Amino acid sequence: MALVTTKDMFAKALKNDYAIGAFNVNNMEIIQGIVDAAKIEQAPLILQVSAGARKYAKPAYLTKLVEAAIEDTGLDIALHLDHGEDFEICKKCVDDGFTSVMIDGSKHSFEENIRITKEVVEYAHAHGVVVEAELGKLAGVEDDVKVDARSATFTDPDEAAEFVERTGVDSLAIAIGTSHGAYKFKGEPYLDYERLKKIHTLIPDTPLVLHGASTVLQDFVAKCNQYGGQVAGAQGVPEEMIREAVKYGICKVNIDTDLRLAMTAEVRKFIMENPAEFDPRKFLGPARSAIQDMVQHKIRNVLNASNTL
Ligand code: G3H
Ligand code: 13P
Ligand code: ZN
Repeated sequence: MALVTTKDMFAKALKNDYAIGAFNVNNMEIIQGIVDAAKIEQAPLILQVSAGARKYAKPAYLTKLVEAAIEDTGLDIALHLDHGEDFEICKKCVDDGFTSVMIDGSKHSFEENIRITKEVVEYAHAHGVVVEAELGKLAGVEDDVKVDARSATFTDPDEAAEFVERTGVDSLAIAIGTSHGAYKFKGEPYLDYERLKKIHTLIPDTPLVLHGASTVLQDFVAKCNQYGGQVAGAQGVPEEMIREAVKYGICKVNIDTDLRLAMTAEVRKFIMENPAEFDPRKFLGPARSAIQDMVQHKIRNVLNASNTL
């Protein structure tokens, strides 16, 4: 049991057509729900921390909670920085013991993205840490990295091959139609599978990463709205579309919004139904259980990663 890099887990996933869930963590209950699910399912696991999460929880708390989760479950877990904006935050996380960092240079020009990615790769690799980069722009808001929906551009396959070759990056996040958050598509959901296949053909050994991969489970949306929420019209990537993407080199599936919705639905329900209660454990407990059930469902039915340890 240890903090591990994603190297072995990606190699196995790529060979056997399943994906690793990369779940965003912000507090103890979220971490516990996720790791308990991964333990029951015997699935490999990535826990990822955004700059916002580090600010919210303070860096040391999240690192220690993940260490506690490893001690408690006996699982090997990869601890990953999500959407690192620059070299400094990536370096900080490497120095703090993360086993994987993302440098998100997608808002920069191709050449500048290559330059900062190379800088991070050099430092991270020298410390035994792996690096994810991003090429192409997702629509929406990525942590502090703002991306205008109208300027969203999908990843160019030839550029992806050149980028991986020139940077030596370990995995690549691509843009093929997903976006962050709970409102991913205005009309019919669409992912550019032809583009994905082309990228995978050109760089077959590079694990590809799908950001914005929450399904926005409608049971949670309905429960939020039933108990006073206002998340009408929320729509994510249908489960079968994620399963399809996993066939063409997607090894890491990023999920945050589904965790938020699962937690919020349970908290809303409990508070509305029990107005006299004020013990937070009474609603954080069910919220943690809802996260566990949801993550088990994903591992089994969407990522196909159950019993792959
Ligand atoms: O991709 C963004 C993740 O959902 C993290 O969101 O910056 O609000 O923690 P956050
Ligand atoms: P969702 O908003 O679809 O959960 O995506 C999360 C993500 O990509 C984190 O990097
Ligand atoms: Zn993301």
